[in-house]
Amino acid sequence: MIIVLMGYMGCGKSTIGRQLSKILRFDFLDLDDYIESKEQYSVKEIFNNKGEIYFRKKEATYLKEILESKGNKVLALGGGTPCYGNNIDLILNSKISKSFYLKASIPQLISNLKNEKDKRPLISHLNSKEEFAEYLGKHLFERSPFYSKANYTISTDQKSVSEIVEKIVLKLV
Ligand code: S3P
Repeated sequence: MIIVLMGYMGCGKSTIGRQLSKILRFDFLDLDDYIESKEQYSVKEIFNNKGEIYFRKKEATYLKEILESKGNKVLALGGGTPCYGNNIDLILNSKISKSFYLKASIPQLISNLKNEKDKRPLISHLNSKEEFAEYLGKHLFERSPFYSKANYTISTDQKSVSEIVEKIVLKLV
């Protein structure tokens, strides 16, 4: 089985995924880390040197590779992964996967992202809280229809990592 975690940048996909994988004794894969190890460049370097379209092609290729692989795993996607090409259909049509949207509010995302924007090329130009709020407001609005297609939606605001993990586990039994 592959448990796929999706949601906006900063919603906690990797942190939650790592803890979930420990509890389930599944392998943990982070799609950004997977891309970086395969390409031998950081996501930031790929965006800067080859452009976002190249990144999106690689993201789709490696997503497919992982979805076709054997073994139980938890997969944390990149924030944009479900929103490009036919990635969302690949995820939903995969008979061995269950998908979760980790839904966080904009204030929560801003507070998680404000000190973590440098490795994220799409938001590294944002400075004030107002700039973050305006950008995230539009971007999340565009992306929500994709995230909402996940098999389950889990609200993450005001919840600890363990509480969120528990909610996911309960959906699996
Ligand atoms: C992106 C999110 C990032 C990474 C890349 C693009 C996006 O992943 O894939 O910077 O389009 O939202 P995280 O959600 O892990 O930050």
